[in-house]
Amino acid sequence: RFKAVIFDLDGVITDTAHYHYLAWKQLAESQGVHFDHEFNEGLKGIDRMGSLDLILASATRSYTPEEKLALADVKNRHYQELIATMSSADLLPGAVEALDAVRAAGLRIGLASVSKNAFTVLGRLGITDKFDYVVDAATIARGKPDPEIFLRAASELGVAPADCLGVEDAVAGVASIKSAGMFALGIGHPFVLTQADVVITSLKEFNLAAY
Ligand code: G6P
Ligand code: MG
Repeated sequence: RFKAVIFDLDGVITDTAHYHYLAWKQLAESQGVHFDHEFNEGLKGIDRMGSLDLILASATRSYTPEEKLALADVKNRHYQELIATMSSADLLPGAVEALDAVRAAGLRIGLASVSKNAFTVLGRLGITDKFDYVVDAATIARGKPDPEIFLRAASELGVAPADCLGVEDAVAGVASIKSAGMFALGIGHPFVLTQADVVITSLKEFNLAAY
C-alpha cells in the first residue's frame, strides 16, 4: 500500500529526548526558569530556537536576538557532549527491525528530524546507510507542526505524500505528517497523539502490513 516510510528520529529510533531534557533544564535554570519533564514534553519535535522561545517566555526579562543565539549555543554544546558517547546500544527496541522490514518490503526510507544534530546521532547509532534520504534540518524554514519537513522527504524520495507512512512520537510531529497528507503512525499514547491514524507503544510493535 505505501511506497515510502518516513521516520522521525528523537523518541522514535533513539531516546535523545532525555539528553535534550538535561541540556534544556540546565539552560532554563541558569535563567531562573523552572523546568521539569512536563515542560519538556511540550518541546518534543520543536526546533532549537522555538524551544528556547518557549522556555524564555517564562523568564522575568526579555532577551535580544544575540543573547538568544548565545543561549541556544550553550544548550547545544551541552547536548553535543551528552550525545558524544552514544552507540548502537542507544537504539530503541524494534528500531532496526522496523527499518529492515521496510527495506525488505521494497519501500523507500526517509528521515525527517528537525534536529541539526541528526546526522551525528545517526552516525553514532551506526544506521546512516539504512536511509535513502535524510532531510538536512538546516535547510528547513518551518519546523513541525508545519508539513515542510515531511513534504521535503517525500519529494526527495520521489514518492507522493499520499503514498507515505510517517512515524512520530510528538504531537507536533503527528500534526506535521497529517497536514502533509500522509498516514500517521504514532509512537506513544493514543490519548496524547490524538491526530495519529494508528498509535503503537514502540517500534517493537511495528507491523507494516497492518496499516
Ligand atoms: C527534535 C527534538 C527536539 C529538539 C529538536 C532540535 O525535534 O525532538 O526536542 O529541540 O529536534 O534539535 P537540535 O539538535 O537541532 O537542537
Ligand atoms: Mg520525536
